[in-house]
Parts: sequence; structure tokens; C-alpha cells
Amino acid sequence: MKILILGHKGMLGHELADELEGDHELILWDRDQIDISNREDVMKKIGELEPDVVVNAAAYTAVDKAESEKDLAYKVNGCAVGFLSTICKEINALFVHFSTDYVFDGENHLGYKEDHPYKPINIYGKSKALGEKMILDIEPRYYIIRTSWLFGKYGKNFVETMLRIANEGKDLKVVNDQFGSPTYAKDFAKKVSELIESHKPFGIYHITNSESCNWYEFALKIFEFSGLNPNVQPVTSESRALGTTSSERPTYSMLINTKLSLMRPWEEALKDYLIETGKIVK
Ligand SMILES: NC(=O)c1ccc[n+]([C@@H]2O[C@H](COP(=O)([O-])OP(=O)(O)OC[C@H]3O[C@@H](n4cnc5c(N)ncnc54)[C@H](OP(=O)(O)O)[C@@H]3O)[C@@H](O)[C@H]2O)c1
Repeated sequence: MKILILGHKGMLGHELADELEGDHELILWDRDQIDISNREDVMKKIGELEPDVVVNAAAYTAVDKAESEKDLAYKVNGCAVGFLSTICKEINALFVHFSTDYVFDGENHLGYKEDHPYKPINIYGKSKALGEKMILDIEPRYYIIRTSWLFGKYGKNFVETMLRIANEGKDLKVVNDQFGSPTYAKDFAKKVSELIESHKPFGIYHITNSESCNWYEFALKIFEFSGLNPNVQPVTSESRALGTTSSERPTYSMLINTKLSLMRPWEEALKDYLIETGKIVK
């Protein structure tokens, strides 16, 4: 298949390019090649390229900053997704789009199934929900794939932040009242590639590593596997956010997957990530 990956320089786009390479004709675009929020750019460039699949890993992902850059977040995560849906429908391309646990309010401690109604509580979540709605309205051939708490070798992520702070010998305060499923971008990309090749019904899918934890427990596991012993304290989101411009985050954001086979537990995936990036030996 001729597959166009948008946002290929981002954490997920990069990982997807690695995963799909070799089996498909890949076209890799980022901001230098296309501005997805420019309708003319999208219609002309993708229309001329005529890919079989458009994978949209481009997004506005600065969760806290979105509170003060509302227009930009809506433009990139909402309107642009509408433009991409329109061109995909026009050229009959499969549209693969990524979304987030943040489209939910996080009040449900049991987690969220694929068809649970949206109720985002911050601007980033609202902008991502708008993008999803655009796809459902325009109805190209589509997969909306929600995931959560990604870590991978390309780009900034929680694991790297924890390791950096611990290695600098600094004390840490990590929230223990937000729960979710950490997900290894490499595992995720593999599952996405299987879905693209699967001919499964179009719709919304949830893909994360299995099992869940809070951020404090995630941090403890990172340190345990890495043999580090920093001074790390659990704190509540409220105390952590005091005096900052942090956006509100969902408390429980486990994504329940009722449509696909489950991926391995996040702890196993984390260990492999640390081994594969040379931070620990097997
Ligand atoms: N990371 C997570 O934990 C997580 C969790 C759940 C869902 N997701 C979803 O997964 C997807 C990928 O996330 P990620 O973490 O890989 O994102 P990322 O690392 O921030 O990468 C996003 C890429 O999109 C590019 N981009 C932004 N605006 C653009 C525009 N107008 N036109 C073209 N390119 C543009 C960015 O370029 P610049 O760097 O130049 O801005 C960057 O290369 C997103 O849809 C996100 O919502 C991520």
C-alpha cells in the first residue's frame, strides 16, 4: 500500500515509520512538507499524491499550553482533522487518526469503552474530541485509535523525565491520584500496523498496553528496573498544580479495549524499552 504518514518526526509518527517500513511504500511528511491546518495545502498535496492510507500522527500535543493557545489547539486537532477526512473521502483513502483518553472526564473508575460519550475537561481533550467528531460527521473510511501515556525512544516522555531528574540527584514529587495505562510506542505502532492491514470494520479502537497504575507507581517501577533510588514522594494533583498553569487532567483514564486482542502488560513493555534503549541490561 502507498501510505502517507503525517507528523513523522513526532514520537508516534517516527515509530510508525519504523514499523511500516519495508512492507509498504511510505511517504513521510511533517510540518516542512505540509501544514495540516491549511485546507488548500491538504486538498492539493494529498489530492495529488493519492495515497491508499493517510496516517495522521501530526497533532497539537502541548496539554498545558493548550489552555492559553486554544485557537491553535482547535485548529490543528479539530479543523485540520476535518480537512484530512474530506480529502480521504474524496480520494477513497483509509484515514487512520490518533486520539486520547483525555476525551473523557476521568470520573469512571472502571475505565472507558470505545463508545462511551465524550466529556473532556481540558482544552486539549476538547480539541481532540472535536477532531473525532469531524471524522464521524464526514465519514471517510476511518480508524480512530485512542491511546494513553505513550513512551518511546523518539521524543520527550515521562520515563526519560524521571530518569533524568533521578540521575541529576534531585528530589521528585509525583502524583498518585491519576490512573491510566502506560503504553510503549513500539508495541502500539505494531498493533496499529496490524489493524491497518486487517480489514476490520471502520470505527473507534482502543490500543494501550494492558493493566494500569498511577503516575507515582509508574515512576517507582522505572526506578526499580533501572536500579535507581531517588527520593520520590507521592503527591495529589491538587497540591502538584498549586501555583502553576497546569490544565485539569482526568483521574481515571483507562481505555477499555473490547474489539482487539490485548497487548502485554505495561511493566513488561517498560522493561523491554529500558533494555532496548540501553538503559539496563537483560
Ligand atoms: N504522547 C502521548 O502520550 C499520547 C497519548 C495519547 C494520544 N496521543 C496522540 O498520538 C498522536 C501523536 O502524538 P505524539 O506524542 O507522537 O506527538 P508529537 O511527538 O508532539 O508529534 C506531533 C508532530 O506533529 C507535527 N505537527 C504539529 N502541528 C502540525 C501542523 N499544523 N502541520 C503538520 N505537522 C504538525 C509536530 O511538529 P512540531 O514538533 O514542529 O510542532 C510533530 O512533529 C497525537 O494525535 C496525540 O494526540 C499521544
